[in-house]
Amino acid sequence: MNRIKGKLILITGASSGIGEACARRFAAEGAQLVLWARRRVRLESVGRALEAQHGVVARLAEVDVRDRAAVSRAAEALVAAGQVPDVLVNNAGLASGLSKVHEGDPEDWDRMIDTNLKGLLNVTRAVLPHMVARRRGHVVNIGSVAGHQTYPMGNVYNASKFGVRALTEGMNLDMAGTPIRVSAVDPGMVETEFSEVRFHGDRERAKAVYQGLQPLTAADVADTIAYVVNLPEHVNILDLIIMPTAQRNVYVVDRATP
Ligand SMILES: NC(=O)c1ccc[n+]([C@@H]2O[C@H](COP(=O)([O-])OP(=O)(O)OC[C@H]3O[C@@H](n4cnc5c(N)ncnc54)[C@H](OP(=O)(O)O)[C@@H]3O)[C@@H](O)[C@H]2O)c1
Repeated sequence: MNRIKGKLILITGASSGIGEACARRFAAEGAQLVLWARRRVRLESVGRALEAQHGVVARLAEVDVRDRAAVSRAAEALVAAGQVPDVLVNNAGLASGLSKVHEGDPEDWDRMIDTNLKGLLNVTRAVLPHMVARRRGHVVNIGSVAGHQTYPMGNVYNASKFGVRALTEGMNLDMAGTPIRVSAVDPGMVETEFSEVRFHGDRERAKAVYQGLQPLTAADVADTIAYVVNLPEHVNILDLIIMPTAQRNVYVVDRATP
């Protein structure tokens, strides 16, 4: 049964990777889309292609989730147009750098904490009150297996994703007494622009992360998110971990040797 058709779904970080794959998957199911990210040109190419292919409406906005005022403005514009999202996918996020904490770059720390934690909070604070007022809505936070287990040099990224897990639990408790669902989907290794961003544009280093194994694709994760969103109203997935078969935990990975 398709319970996604006709829903208004806001996806943050929809210009690439998992967010873009969610936009594709939800459009194929007949959802109306609100797509936010910083790279407008990328958003436009995703949105226009989906409108042409599936006849859905994609409302695009260049929003940096770290910018609380910009997030509020974008959310208010939606509400003023009568477009309160039925589903919010808090996906925008990143790892920046991979180093021991005593050698880490505080700029990287700011980027991760401001995006993964405060950005998620900014968007949630702007959208969730309207869901509560309507007594209708579903928030899906994209965490990570890195929010369940630490790995060497993952320190601040791990902390941010452990934080997302705590926020998901806390938000879920806060929604007691309402029919609003709060879920988390926590992937292992997914081949997207994630590693390229982590290594500040070093494509070779990023490619090596996925060498010798079959990682998840963004579409695999989008399928899982669609499953979570499509469940009947009385069913809520609190936390779903999705891994490539070759990845047994956050750092035990089966790799074919060349
Ligand atoms: N790939 C993995 O292995 C993996 C595993 C577990 C969890 N995750 C999580 O999955 C989520 C999506 O990552 P991905 O793998 O799809 O990586 P990606 O391809 O790099 O996509 C990240 C998305 O987040 C957006 N974004 C980053 N900073 C933003 C900001 N300040 N404001 C608004 N949008 C922002 C980016 O868009 P702009 O640059 O255009 O703003 C982009 O659309 C993240 O939360 C990540 O932590 C990824």
